[in-house]
This record gives sequence, C-alpha cells and structure tokens, in this order.
Amino acid sequence: SPVNVKKICCSGPTCAVIALKCPHIQVTIVDLNQARVDAWNDADFHLPIYEPGLEDVVRHARGRNLFFSTDVDKGIQDADLIFVSVNTPTKKSGVGAGFAADLNYVELATRRIAAVASTSKIIVEKSTVPCRTAESMRTILEANSKPACRFDILSNPEFLAEGTAINDLFAPDRVLIGSLQTPEGLSACESLSQVYANWVPKDCILNVGLWSSELSKLAANAMLAQRISSINALSAICEATGANIDEVSYAIGCDSRIGPKFLKASVGFGGSCFQKDILNLVYLSESLHLPEVAAYWRQVVEMNEYQKRRFSKTVVDTLFNTITGKRIAVLGFAFKADTGDTRESAAITLIRDFLSERAFVNIYDPKVEHAQIWQDLQDASPQQSLQQLQKQVTICSSAMSACKNAEAVVIATEWKEFKNINWELIYAGMEKPAFVFDGRLLLDAEILRKIGFKVVVIGRGE
Ligand code: UGA
Repeated sequence: SPVNVKKICCSGPTCAVIALKCPHIQVTIVDLNQARVDAWNDADFHLPIYEPGLEDVVRHARGRNLFFSTDVDKGIQDADLIFVSVNTPTKKSGVGAGFAADLNYVELATRRIAAVASTSKIIVEKSTVPCRTAESMRTILEANSKPACRFDILSNPEFLAEGTAINDLFAPDRVLIGSLQTPEGLSACESLSQVYANWVPKDCILNVGLWSSELSKLAANAMLAQRISSINALSAICEATGANIDEVSYAIGCDSRIGPKFLKASVGFGGSCFQKDILNLVYLSESLHLPEVAAYWRQVVEMNEYQKRRFSKTVVDTLFNTITGKRIAVLGFAFKADTGDTRESAAITLIRDFLSERAFVNIYDPKVEHAQIWQDLQDASPQQSLQQLQKQVTICSSAMSACKNAEAVVIATEWKEFKNINWELIYAGMEKPAFVFDGRLLLDAEILRKIGFKVVVIGRGE
C-alpha cells in the first residue's frame, strides 16, 4: 500500500507551498550554501529570491513544519520522499555543447542519496530533464543502495512561471506525476498524489508513464515558445503591411481552439527555460536520428533571435541610420515584468547591439540588481573591459533620470510602472525629435504622439 508521506526533503523553494498546505508533513529545504540558508532563515524575511507571495508562505510555515538547513545528509536520511530539483544548464563543452542538458548535478545528487540513505525512499525528479533521465537515476540508485533500501522514482515536472509561481502552485492547471506502470511505481505515485490532494482537486492530478512526464515538460515549454515565435513572425508581416499585431492576436485568440493567452508580440522571449528546453528537444531529436523534427523546433529559437535583431535594426534605421554617440534609454532589463531575473533577457541582446553601434545606453529596471546588469553586459560582450562598458553605460535609479537627454526610449520589459510615468516630463527632458520604441506593446502610442513623441511599436505598421 502507498507510503504515507510524513517527511519531505527538497532543494527548491517550491516545496514551501507543500509545507504551507500540509501542516502534518515536515518539509526540510536543504542547500549546501550557508548564506542562502541564512537568508531563508532571516528574521526580517530578506529571502534569497523575490517572488510575489513567497514571503507570506514562509512566514506561515517556517519553524512550524518548514525548515531550512545545510545538513543535506540528515535531510536525506530523515525523509521518506525526496524532491531532486537541481540546475540542468545547457552544456558549455563536450558532446552536445550548446544544446544538451548538463546532468552532472542530477547525477551528483542521485549518488549522494544512494550513499547516504539507509531506509527506502521515493525519489521525485523535479528538474527539467531530457527523456529517460529517471532511468539513469534508477540504475545509479539500484547499483549503490543498501540491502533493505528500495527507491521508487517519480517524475513531477514544475509548470510554474516566475512572478506567478505561488499562485501557479496554489491553483495549478494540472499536477503531472510520471511513474513506472508497475504496482510499486503506481503505489509511489499514489503517495505523492495524496500529498498534492491536500489542496489540488483529484482530477487535476494526472498519472502518466515516466517518459511521457519528462517529455511533457519539454513539450509544454516548446509549444508555449512556439506560440510567441509564431506571433512574432506575424508581427514582422504587420509592420510591413500596416496591420496591427494586437488586433490579429485578439482575432485569432477568440477561436476557442487557439485561445487568447501567450499571443503577445514582444522583443523576443527570454527566461531560463524556453531556449534551454527547446535546444534540449532539438538535441534529443538529433540523438534519435530525427533531423526534420530537430530543424522544426530549432526554428522557434531562430525566429526569436531574428526578432531581437530586427528590433535593434529598427531602432538604428529609425534614428536616421546611425546611433553612434547617441544616448538611448532602455527601460526594463528583466526578462519579463514582476521578476528580478535577467536570464536570457532580450534587453541584454538589444543593449549589446546598441553598444556595438557605439551608442551611450542608460538603463533603468525597478527590480534588477545593478551588479547583475554589469555581469550580464560583460558576459554578452566579453571582449570589452568593465571600464570600457562603464564609459558607455549608465545604470539609473528612475525612468526619469534614464531618459534625461536621451534621443530615444526603448521599452524592453513590460513593467506596469512605465505606463504611469509622467511622459510629458520625460519628453521635456529629451533631445528632439524624441523617439519611443515600444517593444512590449505596453504604452498608448496615440497619447505619446499627442505629447510630441515619434512612436514605433512592435507589430504595428504605419
Ligand atoms: C515558463 C513557462 O511559462 C512555465 O510554464 C514553466 O514552468 C517555466 O517556463 C519553466 O520551465 O520553469 P517563465 O520562464 O517564468 O515560465 O516565464 P513566461 O511567463 O513563460 O515568459 C517567458 C518569456 O516569454 C518572457 O520573456 C515573456 O516576456 C515572453 N512572452 C510571454 C512573450 O513575449 N509573449 C507572451 O505572450 C508571453
């Protein structure tokens, strides 16, 4: 019969929600990094990541049944269920470099569990991993386990998005649990289902095979990114024809088979997952000798690169074919609003392009740390020294100061506050003609034009 889960050990913050919803389960979040654990335990709740609603969750559950610790081994030994959520970055060298997932951390975590565990455990793979990783984990665990220990492996991919993570966890569209379709596998699956059933309706908890579960995670992200690339490809047609991408999105989104979400044209998608997961799928397809399938998915990433390139070219073309020595204000640096995360942010590519045209760039983002911006810009232009960068780039503490004396404003992230700034005052402080390039369809172009701005909006022809 299914194990009644009493103690959970995990390495990602999402299990904080399990602790909140299941007061009878003890949840320990382990991390080898003492500074991070200290931040999680901080009396004033200066938590190591920013996510709306997370602080409330931690306030409620911390010290009750939610604990943070650097003692990974004890966490493993005590738990009857362990979530393995570690980074799976794209490999930088070796076979599959630039495409394949680096599974080193998954393997290290698995070996550690095998070495330390002295009782049976359910191991839940939570990281996004290529198909059949669970199989490797099982082989490692079985080859290294102690006599009385059995390990059941589940796949339970995360579908939450940054900025809405807590709500996504409170009310998920579905919880996906993959298991071997053996009596033991199904029983482990039932144990984890019972944990989620504390707050998720039963019919939203899906049980599928292990490989289907792993592939579904890659497939979901690939399909979401594909929608954005499709709409962005159409935005180029709109600009060339005078159609309006917002109207097109709305019109096609009214078809219930297509649906209205994820059809917002943009400067390009970013974030730590979409590109990585698609490249993973491309690599998987190639390894399976399916080159046509690989090429199909690769095109989603190529379209995204094209969209970013196209947007920086529009800026240069519009500013009379040169931005050398001109000052450009970039509003937003995060890969989307409501997060301080900058991974793969389109802003990085745009700014790199502006800098290579020898423009001056002022940057303002309400959430991103300045040190992170410097780091990202250095990584994007490794041939430039920090001193060189600092001659060309200024990081500002408000939208107003970023736009001062600029020739153009570029909206790179859809932060709500950019809608509500005093655009008349911004206009007064800028060089003329003053341009706004809205890469996020955020602003009301008509109002800006009345003020005097020249406005260029993505996906909108004149
Ligand atoms: C994404 C998925 O949405 C989650 O379901 C998934 O769990 C997660 O990846 C993951 O694998 O961890 P996330 O990267 O946090 O979540 O952000 P999204 O909201 O998906 O946005 C990704 C990018 O697409 C952003 O740059 C966003 O601005 C852009 N986007 C999104 C558009 O350009 N247009 C849209 O209509 C929607």
